[in-house]
Amino acid sequence: MRLNVTVNGEARQADDVWEGESLLYVLRERMGLPGSKNACEQGECGSCTVYVDGVPACACLIAAGQAEGRDIITVEGLADGEGLHPVQQAFLEAGAVQCGFCTPGLLVQTHDLLERVESPSDPEIREALAGNLCRCTGYEKILDAVRLAAGRMAGTSR
Ligand code: FES
Ligand code: FES
Repeated sequence: MRLNVTVNGEARQADDVWEGESLLYVLRERMGLPGSKNACEQGECGSCTVYVDGVPACACLIAAGQAEGRDIITVEGLADGEGLHPVQQAFLEAGAVQCGFCTPGLLVQTHDLLERVESPSDPEIREALAGNLCRCTGYEKILDAVRLAAGRMAGTSR
């Protein structure tokens, strides 16, 4: 099939796509967007999280055929050109990135949380990120990063 999607605001096409291959594969291998990570390919870890029509979803669980016509935003699309998004900057500064496999999914999920809740409580942050597994950080630095980003983004237009 020929797949037509909007990715990070740009109309994109890919040819000779098998309907059953994952959106994650399409993004990484066909569209040159390796930010979203493939850590489990089973919907368990959240490393592949992207926005699909404005809702965070595991790209490894979405078949290419289901993605036709959708609006996709990946971790690359959060940045403003060369400038990092405040959520990305906060993860960097807080030391919330080690191997980085979980980071793209955490960034998208945190972005979504802070779009919905200006100053989330710790339980709200933990709940929002419950589907994103990190094998390295112990989560404390991740919580620090979300609090830092929330503080900086409060009252700004996101
Ligand atoms: S790679 Fe998709 S949830 Fe783990
Ligand atoms: S930084 Fe390695 S899995 Fe989270």
